[in-house]
Amino acid sequence: MTGKLTVAGLGPGQIDWITPAVSKALASASDIFGYDSYLARLDAAPHQRLHASPNRVEIERANEALALASSGRDVAMVSGGDPGVFAMAAAIFEAIEHGPQEWRSIEIVIEPGITAMLAVAARIGAPLGHDFCAISLSDNLKPWDTIEKRLSLACEADFVIALYNPASKARPDGIFRAFEILNSKRVPETIVVFARAIGRPDESVTISTLAGADLSKVDMQTLVLIGSSATRLVKRGNGINPWVYTPRSMAPV
Ligand SMILES: C[S@@+](CC[C@H](N)C(=O)[O-])C[C@H]1O[C@@H](n2cnc3c(N)ncnc32)[C@H](O)[C@@H]1O
Repeated sequence: MTGKLTVAGLGPGQIDWITPAVSKALASASDIFGYDSYLARLDAAPHQRLHASPNRVEIERANEALALASSGRDVAMVSGGDPGVFAMAAAIFEAIEHGPQEWRSIEIVIEPGITAMLAVAARIGAPLGHDFCAISLSDNLKPWDTIEKRLSLACEADFVIALYNPASKARPDGIFRAFEILNSKRVPETIVVFARAIGRPDESVTISTLAGADLSKVDMQTLVLIGSSATRLVKRGNGINPWVYTPRSMAPV
């Protein structure tokens, strides 16, 4: 029997940032897989089976969901933000690539969501108005040397840089090491934004410079945005965060 697996992005937290297509897919699913805190956000019907799992077991979760879809059920897998950005969609295709042949006949639908970087950008202005890149600081799935190399080259290329997974209890040092590289490659006035829990009740945004950056509060719910040489502030009244934007055009470097 061939079933269906929808990988759906829940966005960063705010309920009205979930697309109608995601809501529709979740309402029709017989089974919903995901990290426990994402499942807690859903308003599941009594007949729907929820399959919660801890964050670090992506491939096992993908294998279980695919096995169930392959038995003919209508399965959904939820991811925070967008499912294709440092998230479950890639784990699903990795599991299919290494899994049994019949998994290739499952109908796979990826329903996009708003990724954290875009939600943060919308909150503070338009920092991604010119070229940018996204780098995960987690070295769980790649060597730290690769992170350092990519960060260095992104600085050299003068991209706006979005840092996902900047720190966790198990990886408290990475953000400090990353800022050593940033400090050696970018001027101290470079704009830095710490955006935490965007779209959630405890949302906070701190706008700083590289020289004035306080890394002590950076955690797994934070996205760190590093401006390019062109990123600037538009000041507003006292006590109100300025807008941050990167102009659409820039002079030759
Ligand atoms: C494993 S990645 C998943 C990214 C997700 N798939 C997305 O598209 O946003 C988790 C990281 O995304 C960022 N993030 C997710 N939700 C966020 C939010 N509401 N506010 C700020 N950063 C967030 C943080 O950097 C966090 O450590």
